[in-house]
Amino acid sequence: MNLQLVSTVPFTDQKPGTSGLRKSVPVFQKPHYLENFIQAIFDSLDGCAGQTLVLGGDGRYYNRSAIQTILKMAAANEIGKIIVGQGGILSTPAASCLIRKYQTFGGIILSASHNPGGPNGDFGVKYNIGNGGPAPEKVTSAIFERSQQITEYKILSAADVNLDRAGSFKLGTMDVEVIDSVTPYLELMQSLFDFERIRAFIAAGNFRMCIDSMHAVTGPYAKALFEEALGASAGTVINGIPLEDFGQGHPDPNLVYAKELVDILFGEDAPDFGAASDGDGDRNMVLGKHFFVTPSDSLAVLTANATLVPGYKNGLAGVARSMPTSAAVDRVAAKLGIDCYETPTGWKFFGNLLDADKATLCGEESFGTGSNHVREKDGLWAVLFWLNLLATTGKSVEQLVTEHWQTYGRNFYSRHDYEEVDKAKATELMERLREMSATLPGQQLGVYTVDYADDFSYTDPVDGSISQKQGIRIGFTDGSRMVFRLSGTGTKGATLRVYLESYEPDGTKHQQDTQDALGSLIALANEVAQIKEFTGRDRPTVIT
Ligand code: G1P
Ligand code: ZN
Repeated sequence: MNLQLVSTVPFTDQKPGTSGLRKSVPVFQKPHYLENFIQAIFDSLDGCAGQTLVLGGDGRYYNRSAIQTILKMAAANEIGKIIVGQGGILSTPAASCLIRKYQTFGGIILSASHNPGGPNGDFGVKYNIGNGGPAPEKVTSAIFERSQQITEYKILSAADVNLDRAGSFKLGTMDVEVIDSVTPYLELMQSLFDFERIRAFIAAGNFRMCIDSMHAVTGPYAKALFEEALGASAGTVINGIPLEDFGQGHPDPNLVYAKELVDILFGEDAPDFGAASDGDGDRNMVLGKHFFVTPSDSLAVLTANATLVPGYKNGLAGVARSMPTSAAVDRVAAKLGIDCYETPTGWKFFGNLLDADKATLCGEESFGTGSNHVREKDGLWAVLFWLNLLATTGKSVEQLVTEHWQTYGRNFYSRHDYEEVDKAKATELMERLREMSATLPGQQLGVYTVDYADDFSYTDPVDGSISQKQGIRIGFTDGSRMVFRLSGTGTKGATLRVYLESYEPDGTKHQQDTQDALGSLIALANEVAQIKEFTGRDRPTVIT
């Protein structure tokens, strides 16, 4: 085994996006591409020599080979110890759990989340800091800057290590510990939820559920939680074996991509509860029998009922939601008398609020919900939270949500995505809206009067850092709102996201179809932003 110094030149495109560096597999397979980025991480982490890092990924194509490279580079860069998930597998929340449990310096998570996998799919690398959460912007900027100056990287020339057996060994002078990927996470869940009660509820026999792991990382976690610890029947977890290409699917738990689960929950003789997770296990979609729960409503319902769950029985310090997420949770927070924070898109913005105990639950409209138990969103945590509420109240999913609307009013909400549109045109569309926004307040647009319009800027209440240009918001005097932003996670062209929301206090109008209820706002958004003119599309690619 000997240390190699390999000469290299920078790649200009290694700027981490909303959630780490995400590129297609062929890009990551370019000679030195992965190595440059990993070296940039080690170079920009002050004091990482001798420290412990967690390493694992969602099992997608290239996961295993990237882990071998990273282990050899870590050894060459004098990292003290790497804790790696067996088979190279760690869901994103499980990785966060390990960083916190073992108080490591940080961790490297290999995932492109819900993006398709396989030899032509996507791959990604995220660095998480010692609190278990995604690196804040100052860290990702430092990594990017370093990647632009890199001239060489360090790697140990050594044989590949066996990741499939739990145990400890040395790689050069570095310790490697291969650990069971599931148990520490399972124990954390058992400390938060009333497993006995959920188990008894399932055993009583008049409740059926279906959990879709979408051939991605949550399969082993879901089987251990639902079929083993909670005693649900074998076969409750579907698509439970992680595959490198996710069975050629798109592991994004929404109404479009989780079609198999949606067909089951909206079919004849449907089960009472259904849920799906994404590629790396941090997202969730929750369904009742013939009923879809929007992620924004899910956050609001969990907040309103949190004290029914053991881990939150003493109440919440506060809540936080990303800016485009609906204001449903704001109404609950107001009633509970707790603070509600509005942050830019991306889980990393919740980290400081959770660390400072300003927020206990957080959520994003993009099927992300979580709490202070880790520093990532957590799909299976949300599923267990719902199961705990169902077991404790004896109510159905639909009942819990519709009763919630009766109390708080309903925030009709939808997101329209225009995927893979021309980047230059999409940027132009945003520029135009940015310029327009200054003159919009007070203007009458159709039946709506503009209350405020801006490009969202966020000042972190803990460290004072400022994040600008986080999306154009146009709010109307009746509480409706439209938001426009470009995705920071896509890898092809640009994705325009349009978020639409209206508030309906009148309980007799809650049963309308969402797209109908938002119809006039959708038409107005198309007109204001000239979506067809700029994108050439007359309808969105995905509606959630
Ligand atoms: C998307 C979601 C965002 C989420 C991120 C990572 O980012 O919109 O809420 O945090 O994925 O899962 P976007 O592509 O919109 O930048
Ligand atoms: Zn994800």
